[in-house]
Amino acid sequence: METDGVLSIRNVSKRFGGTQALDDVSFDVQKGEIHALLGENGAGKSTLIKIISGVVQKDRGSVFLDGRELKVRNAQQSRELGINVVYQELSLIPDLSVAENIFASSVNMNSMKFMRIGNLGSDVMSIVEMLDIDLRTPVRNLGIGAQQMVEIAGAISRKCRILILDEPTASLTNEEVKILYRIIRMLKDQGVIIIFISHKLSEVFDIADRATVMKDGRYVATDRVGNLDENSLIKLMTGRDLHDMYPPKGDSPGAFALEVGDYSGSGFRSVNFSLREGEILGMAGLTGAGRTEFCTTLFGVQPSTGGSLRLFGKDFAPRDVLAAMRAGIGYLPEDRKQTGVFMQMDIKENTVAATIDGIARHGILSAAKINECAREMIGKLSAKTGLLRDRILSLSGGNQQKIVLGRWLLANPRILIVDEPTRGIDVGAKFEIYQILRNLARSGMAIILISSELPEIIGMSDRILTFYKGKVSMEIDCHDPFLEEKIGCGIMGSSFRKSGEAEA
Ligand SMILES: Nc1ncnc2c1ncn2[C@@H]1O[C@H](COP(=O)(O)OP(=O)(O)OP(=O)(O)O)[C@@H](O)[C@H]1O
Ligand SMILES: [Mg+2]
Repeated sequence: METDGVLSIRNVSKRFGGTQALDDVSFDVQKGEIHALLGENGAGKSTLIKIISGVVQKDRGSVFLDGRELKVRNAQQSRELGINVVYQELSLIPDLSVAENIFASSVNMNSMKFMRIGNLGSDVMSIVEMLDIDLRTPVRNLGIGAQQMVEIAGAISRKCRILILDEPTASLTNEEVKILYRIIRMLKDQGVIIIFISHKLSEVFDIADRATVMKDGRYVATDRVGNLDENSLIKLMTGRDLHDMYPPKGDSPGAFALEVGDYSGSGFRSVNFSLREGEILGMAGLTGAGRTEFCTTLFGVQPSTGGSLRLFGKDFAPRDVLAAMRAGIGYLPEDRKQTGVFMQMDIKENTVAATIDGIARHGILSAAKINECAREMIGKLSAKTGLLRDRILSLSGGNQQKIVLGRWLLANPRILIVDEPTRGIDVGAKFEIYQILRNLARSGMAIILISSELPEIIGMSDRILTFYKGKVSMEIDCHDPFLEEKIGCGIMGSSFRKSGEAEA
């Protein structure tokens, strides 16, 4: 068998405490191939790539490159071999500039003062040009998407035989995803072995040549993407047939939960709309259109600069987050790494963090009560967790997200804002989260859904507001026959015209 340019994973197993993260996994990846690695949260994808790159040591099995066994002890050694990984968790240094970050991973830090931008290779320069970012900008001033691109540029500035991307697109804009696709195809043409992990199945069909599916730490199947469709992939990943991803829409919304009048603040102005109990209101828009700023202001994170809010018929001006929470508002933030997860707390504490008020009787927290609530919520979301006292960082990325969502569901708010609630979450869990959100709405909760995934906005919302440059540009009912076209116009700030009508 031809072994030149082949990465072979043979009988690899790994156990973390009580969790069998990988169980006898074997498959091959060819050079010049874009190979998707798929599976539900906790399936073992990240663990497998950490083994390939030497960050985690396997218990059993071998990894071969060109027919020779790879014995990688640490990340440094794997880089010397040309194995580059962009991890799910970013590893940038926020206070260094873009250029410094690209270099930091490839050169000795001491020699950094001699660094010249001209020393960046042509591949990296072409990425930087595509990105249109100033190399001297400190990385912390960039959006998450741009940071991710810097990380990718850093990875390929080194010798590159294998490039592994762990959910690279989770926080990229559509434009950035297109750039990423171009970069990946360029490397494919150079014969690089590319492993691509993503929970967005449409991307797998866009870019991958073959896909391998894992489930509960075991290898399930490998096939050419051309032989697969979305349903067959979902079946392999979850073991279930998941038709009707989205639950039926709500029918009769109740009383006003929120009335927003000419509300302005940092990043948005003159916003007007109302939200009713039992309703899911979708907010569509490009990154930076003001949706998150509007919602964080409503949640008392920063002050508004004008306008009014009425909450359940009463005037409302949140002094701070605590006041907003007491008034019945819950907020699942977009960036769970920065604001969502309390990294130092364990799973149980993270789950109940928003509910402490509710669980404490006369100020006394009962450990038994915390355990009970946490366990119930984890079960509802089928989050795959170890022990309740484990650090939350030991969970797979998607399971961390479920814990944060569970935290807000436990607090039982009357208005729930969810900002990118399914980012990084597998299809099975997405399905469950959609059912949960709709059931909450049915029980009377008013829900605001911010999402960059149009199918999700369209599938879940009863009504949709589009934001453009800080203002609401359109309000659309979910039964509108031109729903998609209108959303497209709304987020681009153009007015809607039925096709066939002439441009004015
Ligand atoms: N350092 C660790 N300590 C303890 N358990 C771990 C550790 N790393 C991973 N695990 C466990 O191993 C299993 C596989 O995790 P892994 O991160 O590989 O999943 P994944 O397929 O990448 O999931 P996701 O799609 O959510 O990122 C999970 O049950 C996880 O909780
Ligand atoms: Mg992972």
